Amino acid sequence: MSKWLTVLCTALVWCCYLYSNPAATSMANNETDRVALLAFKAAIVEDPFGALTSWNHSLHYCHWNGILCSRRHPDRVIRITLTSQGLVGSLSPHVGNLSFLKSIVLSNNSFHGLIPQEMGRLFRLQAIELSNNSFGGAIPTNLSRCSSLESLNLINNNLTGNILVELGSLSKLRALGLSKNKLSGTIPPAIGNLSSLTVLSLAYCNLMCLRVSKILSDKLRS
Ligand SMILES: *[C@@H]1O[C@H](CO)[C@@H](O)[C@H](O)[C@H]1NC(C)=O
Ligand SMILES: *[C@@H]1O[C@H](CO)[C@@H](O)[C@H](O)[C@H]1NC(C)=O
Ligand SMILES: *[C@@H]1O[C@H](CO)[C@@H](O)[C@H](O)[C@H]1NC(C)=O
Ligand SMILES: *[C@@H]1O[C@H](CO)[C@@H](O)[C@H](O)[C@H]1NC(C)=O
Ligand SMILES: *[C@@H]1O[C@H](CO)[C@@H](O)[C@H](O)[C@H]1NC(C)=O
Ligand SMILES: *[C@@H]1O[C@H](CO)[C@@H](O)[C@H](O)[C@H]1NC(C)=O
Ligand SMILES: *[C@@H]1O[C@H](CO)[C@@H](O)[C@H](O)[C@H]1NC(C)=O
Ligand SMILES: *[C@@H]1O[C@H](CO)[C@@H](O)[C@H](O)[C@H]1NC(C)=O
Repeated sequence: MSKWLTVLCTALVWCCYLYSNPAATSMANNETDRVALLAFKAAIVEDPFGALTSWNHSLHYCHWNGILCSRRHPDRVIRITLTSQGLVGSLSPHVGNLSFLKSIVLSNNSFHGLIPQEMGRLFRLQAIELSNNSFGGAIPTNLSRCSSLESLNLINNNLTGNILVELGSLSKLRALGLSKNKLSGTIPPAIGNLSSLTVLSLAYCNLMCLRVSKILSDKLRS
């Protein structure tokens, strides 16, 4: 008897909660995106052209410069596009909370520090364009969890370490740009197995890279 009473009470409390606060779920969702974007802004230390001045409380974040929200899922950010804005700073790990994000394009700025592992949570992400910045450290292993990824462009940064074997699991990858970094080691054969890959830029790492990339380009020609 008391067990049923507990179940009934729990159900009642839950119903009351939903009834009094119908927007509870969507509120939680859109608050997450807003918080994540504010954290993104907070990690920028220089914004010479005022690219982020519209990122203020008097404007809904879906109207902030460089932000595109979904039509199907209102208030969910699907694109961040801020190229050539002279932005200096790091990339906040909070971007990993923008769970509807499809593309992040920050090419030709001065982002430094690590590419956050948290981006591996973004399974809808199709494009990561971070070329011509100063990102350092290793390519995060968790990027291999971005299973929708079609384009990964990290050309002209300061990345070190090996080219990840794990990238070979990105079966939708069509373009991979890793040239002009300080990467070492060999190209994992798994990357040569990526059947959708048609653009590959790996030059400027070392002789071994060049040799394997020739094998790959031969493969792509055949
Ligand atoms: C969050 O969602 C609620 C309910 O859909 C809406 O009323 C509110 O304006 C939204 N807030 C933001 C900041 O998007
Ligand atoms: C907020 O951004 C809008 C759009 O760029 C701008 O017109 C407004 O002056 C800004 N407000 C503040 C307080 O910066
Ligand atoms: C890169 O950004 C700088 C501004 O920081 C700009 O002057 C330059 O033209 C940009 N380069 C390209 C190729 O867009
Ligand atoms: C978002 O991400 C940050 C850093 O990864 C984390 O600390 C925070 O708890 C996350 N969640 C929300 C709802 O902001
Ligand atoms: C890369 O950044 C440098 C320095 O900001 C700039 O001079 C150059 O034009 C950029 N190149 C490209 C291809 O964006
Ligand atoms: C990276 O991925 C692992 C699972 O492979 C997960 O346990 C971990 O939480 C992820 N790290 C971040 C920072 O999201
Ligand atoms: C690259 O990293 C080295 C240290 O590893 C640092 O001295 C150099 O300034 C960095 N270059 C850029 C463009 O960030
Ligand atoms: C590459 O593909 C071939 C044929 O499908 C397979 O036998 C081989 O194990 C794969 N190699 C790697 C490293 O995934």
